[in-house]
Amino acid sequence: MTDSFEPTIIGFTCNWCSYRAADLAGTARIKYPPNVRLIRLMCSGRLDPTFVFKALANGADGVIITGCHPGECHYIEQNYKALRRFHLMKRTLQGLGLEPGRVKLIWASAAEGAKFASEITAFVEEIRALGPLHWGKNGSAPSPTVEAVQEKVEVPA
Ligand code: FES
Repeated sequence: MTDSFEPTIIGFTCNWCSYRAADLAGTARIKYPPNVRLIRLMCSGRLDPTFVFKALANGADGVIITGCHPGECHYIEQNYKALRRFHLMKRTLQGLGLEPGRVKLIWASAAEGAKFASEITAFVEEIRALGPLHWGKNGSAPSPTVEAVQEKVEVPA
């Protein structure tokens, strides 16, 4: 892929851990690429898979989901729900003819600013290597509507 490709990445963060890790990276002046736009949720378990597919359908090249480490979720075990949904999303992407690597899940505590920054940096490079997301090319499905994704994705409880 050309060096000029700058991926657009949407990052979903949990209010209690990973958003604070991003904050810590900022206050500690740890640099990471500006390609990621963070959206704060109260918990990774709040992430509806349609948020991810909507981001990808509307111009994002990749989506990173972040949350508290397993066993440390402030809502007990909602991040396990996020983990199950993440695997489902990867399978759905594959079913749509897209690279499952366009979605990534990482755990980061509030103290892991450096880890957060290095994971973002690595993901930007992974998406850069995959190239821009082209719906409807190379045998992939055309960009789906949210309704179509909702039909395909069965949200686990
Ligand atoms: Fe952070 Fe649930 S509160 S993942």
